[in-house]
Amino acid sequence: MQVAETIEALRAWRAAVSGVVGFVPTMGALHDGHLSLVRRARRECERVAVSIFVNPAQFGPLEDFQSYPRDLSRDLNLLGAEGVDLVFVPAQSAIYPEGFVTWVTVERLAKRWEGASRPGHFRGVATVVLKLLNLVRPERAYFGEKDYQQLRVVERLVRDLGVPTAIVPCPTVREPDGLALSSRNAYFSPEERRAATVLWRALAAALDECVKGERSTARLCRVVKSVIGEEPLARLDYVAVADPETLEPVKQIDQRGAVCCLAAWVGKVRLIDNVRLEPVPSKGEERA
Ligand code: PAF
Repeated sequence: MQVAETIEALRAWRAAVSGVVGFVPTMGALHDGHLSLVRRARRECERVAVSIFVNPAQFGPLEDFQSYPRDLSRDLNLLGAEGVDLVFVPAQSAIYPEGFVTWVTVERLAKRWEGASRPGHFRGVATVVLKLLNLVRPERAYFGEKDYQQLRVVERLVRDLGVPTAIVPCPTVREPDGLALSSRNAYFSPEERRAATVLWRALAAALDECVKGERSTARLCRVVKSVIGEEPLARLDYVAVADPETLEPVKQIDQRGAVCCLAAWVGKVRLIDNVRLEPVPSKGEERA
């Protein structure tokens, strides 16, 4: 496995390899969620490249950029064991050179939900993702569905700007108790870790109601709020039921289905999660 710390080293690797290149962008602190993306890339592509870059531009001024977990040697060991070909570990000055002023803004899709709670976040994500895609020039790039809005923003960006990379969505990986894997789970005390399962319990309760026939998204949001409200260590930031493509809020679940997204604080840690709401058609709907 080669480790490229400069753009020049990455370009030299890219120029020398042939076949389909699969790319997994990460901020390090790797867990099984990241490794599931790497494994999928390994199965589908001749070459696999991973980037590790904690992107300052996607963190707000009061967020955890400084304390974000970093353990490069552990990450490199994990990636080596997965048969990754190249790991790109750029310095901040390589991604944001002196005088950097060129930003990518994805409108509409990036406005609500995470975009509203974390102003500037998606501008940082879109800019770094476009830069990484330009540098690595992969045929395929792998993104987790846990960051659902990020996935949609990246798909839109690639379509709008004609980037020749197929974006491959990959399912969220969960702990046995339902907690979605996240690098930020490392921050939890044992008590908070237990409380953090409330996100999935709330989403699962909404899914359950939807499968039983509930179509009102206001009522589904109330189900989520009430489950989160029962956990004293958790505080809901937002819950939304939205169109799975446009991420605009919807009032009723129809045959297109919807996505229920939420963000909540557990102690000082902010987590996001989501579930697709795919209604099983009732008898009346089947006839329609
Ligand atoms: O999902 C992440 O880890 C980051 O947002 C990404 C895509 C690596 C961009 O920094």
